[in-house]
Amino acid sequence: MLSLRIDVNRKKVLISALRAAGIVVLRHDPFTVSTEVKSSVGDLVTAADLASEKVIIETIRASFPNDLVLSEETKLGQEKFNEQGLSGLTAWVIDPIDGTNNFKRGMAYSGISIGYIENGEIQIGGILDPYRNVLYLAERGLGATSNGMPVNVSDRLALDAGTRVCTSNSYEAGTQENLSRYEKIGYVWVDVLGSAVMIMADIASGKLDLYHHNGLKPWDNAAGFLIAREAGAKIVGLHGQPVTWLTNEVVMGNPQLVDLFIEKTSA
Ligand code: IPD
Ligand code: CA
Ligand code: CA
Repeated sequence: MLSLRIDVNRKKVLISALRAAGIVVLRHDPFTVSTEVKSSVGDLVTAADLASEKVIIETIRASFPNDLVLSEETKLGQEKFNEQGLSGLTAWVIDPIDGTNNFKRGMAYSGISIGYIENGEIQIGGILDPYRNVLYLAERGLGATSNGMPVNVSDRLALDAGTRVCTSNSYEAGTQENLSRYEKIGYVWVDVLGSAVMIMADIASGKLDLYHHNGLKPWDNAAGFLIAREAGAKIVGLHGQPVTWLTNEVVMGNPQLVDLFIEKTSA
């Protein structure tokens, strides 16, 4: 059954944390910010990621000191999460900058993402585009908004040259695998963009039509899945199988387009 309870306090804290992080991120100069390589040369963490994460965690802890925080750059929460698993989980799931590579190159397409999880299910999701000051927000069962205005997925039904089908980079061979799907779906408008959470927000608001990707992490999904679903998206695995916000490989968009994509890529 859908929970229609609005957790006003948690929602307020989630929005405050996103806005505080947005200010912190924009204070950093991408070209001089201290940067380290993580798993590979395309996978970076900057001082802006860490400062954003810090202000988000402090904001949450000030109101909810006992809640579990699962955040990309902090190992402790990840270890606790792995011990606990999904069932009965209450947690805040954070990507302090999604699209770090874009941020570092001065390309203004990155988002800050927070999902609030209760009993293992996403209840509230928020993504802030700090460059355009756009806040995408969803509560379970109550729809999705962009700066307070309701949003919906696109209504394109065909995979043709006017249909924007987006994927994004995976580290190493994963990107080639993402690109190989285009051979099966024919001549569409191809986008390869560097921020999963912004792409999900753009799917939710109908700017992009379809997103398929094989390299998603829980912090990429925790807000974006809810925002996209509440805007009417179907989200399934690359072979049509059910997903949770822990799933790596997904396709999302309006239900008919997702079904068509699965049919073509499975053939
Ligand atoms: C990455 C970005 C990228 C996507 C990767 C993500 P990060 O997140 O969203 O576009 O292709 O799968 O891991 O490292 O910038 O937070
Ligand atoms: Ca990140
Ligand atoms: Ca990410």
